[in-house]
Amino acid sequence: MSVEERLLGIRGWLIDTPEYGRLRSWRDGALVIENGVIREVGDYLYLSKKPRLQPVRWLDAGRFAVFPGLIDLHTHAAQYPAVARGQSELLPWLRQHIFPQEREFAGPRGRREAGAFFNELLRQGTTTAVLYTAIYPDSCDAAFMAAAQSGLRVIMGKMMMDVGSYGSLQPTKIASVSLHETEQLCKRWHGAGDGLIEYAVSPRFAVACSEKLLRGAADLAARSGAYLQTHLAENLEECEKVRHQFPWARDYTDVYEKCGLLSPRTILGHCLHLSDREREALAASGSSIAHCPTANLFLRSGILPLDEVRSAGIRLGLGSDVAAGPELNLWQVMRSAIESQKARSFYQKHVPVPTPAEALYLATQGAALALGKGSRIGSFEPGKEADLTVMDYSALLPYHGSVRSDMSAEDVLSLCIYRGGPGAVMETFVRGRSIYRAPEPELF
Ligand code: GUN
Ligand code: FE
Repeated sequence: MSVEERLLGIRGWLIDTPEYGRLRSWRDGALVIENGVIREVGDYLYLSKKPRLQPVRWLDAGRFAVFPGLIDLHTHAAQYPAVARGQSELLPWLRQHIFPQEREFAGPRGRREAGAFFNELLRQGTTTAVLYTAIYPDSCDAAFMAAAQSGLRVIMGKMMMDVGSYGSLQPTKIASVSLHETEQLCKRWHGAGDGLIEYAVSPRFAVACSEKLLRGAADLAARSGAYLQTHLAENLEECEKVRHQFPWARDYTDVYEKCGLLSPRTILGHCLHLSDREREALAASGSSIAHCPTANLFLRSGILPLDEVRSAGIRLGLGSDVAAGPELNLWQVMRSAIESQKARSFYQKHVPVPTPAEALYLATQGAALALGKGSRIGSFEPGKEADLTVMDYSALLPYHGSVRSDMSAEDVLSLCIYRGGPGAVMETFVRGRSIYRAPEPELF
């Protein structure tokens, strides 16, 4: 095969954020992709005439905006049917709505729903997702099979808990069983699908885990090179419980620190209620935060002090955290990341409000860095893998469809953040391969 035959060209309005808040765009831009890797990025008119670089296939998305694929750093595959349910805060909500939901993943329903869940994720413009399943190894296995079939990048793990697991109706899994099942799944799936599938050792949070389970999880992640994910300081009642459960710890973060959970491969959901000491400890460990603003508002958990997290030097990205977050749609999570800081800034005047470009960075390049993949995905650079999402922004304009000629890249991004969702996602690509295409509109 000649070089030209291996090349794919995509033409469109390219928009990305290589640095926090720096919006970059090519109005009539093009990506030239070879074997899933970006070879060239620039103006279409220049690249389409460049000798020795002529793809045999040009996909013309000229009317559309092309963004780096969105990265969801934290969500729950087994909770999706429970979205928008309940009015309580975290701990009663888990008991009343979530544990019964996850318990149903023991049987055929877990296997059936896995495929449907990944189809739903594909519609969002998301190309990488970090997920928890329920505690059952067979349904987690089924979820991995569905993930591998979807073509998405997926980092996932079986939920681990051995304290009060799913309430009294479910026999509590003892730590060693949970660790053994996790090790088997990790061996089978970590690095599968040509590296698109990775394992995340997933202890739920300190409230639902014994010290033995936490230490075992940390050890397993270190030995296997897998990621580790858990929740930290989401809710004040949760923090109080941890203080009683682990009296030897200086604070919540210290529980994870002492048990060896904090490393550059660790992703911590929420992290709302942390002291300066805890933020310093997270920064020193290289662990990342999955900021889940829609979930934090839904469960009335609080608002992340985004400026303090950033000035502590902690890497962070965004998570939909379904079912605490009501949607898998990351555009609406970006919107919420902006709006929740606006609410904070109203009461604390010094608080900066993120710009749309800063929010996009958190959902793309920032999240890529949080995963240690900052040089592989997250923006349009030659040498990076071609993960991208094509948005029909005209579908988001009032009176549908009349593309305004006076729009700037800032306008297009803002439109996607304030009104974006599956209705505007035309196509997504992972490693240059189309993994989702919106259905053609029906004429009648
Ligand atoms: N903390 C522990 N488990 C969960 C969960 O499933 N969702 C959320 N939002 N927080 C948690
Ligand atoms: Fe969560």
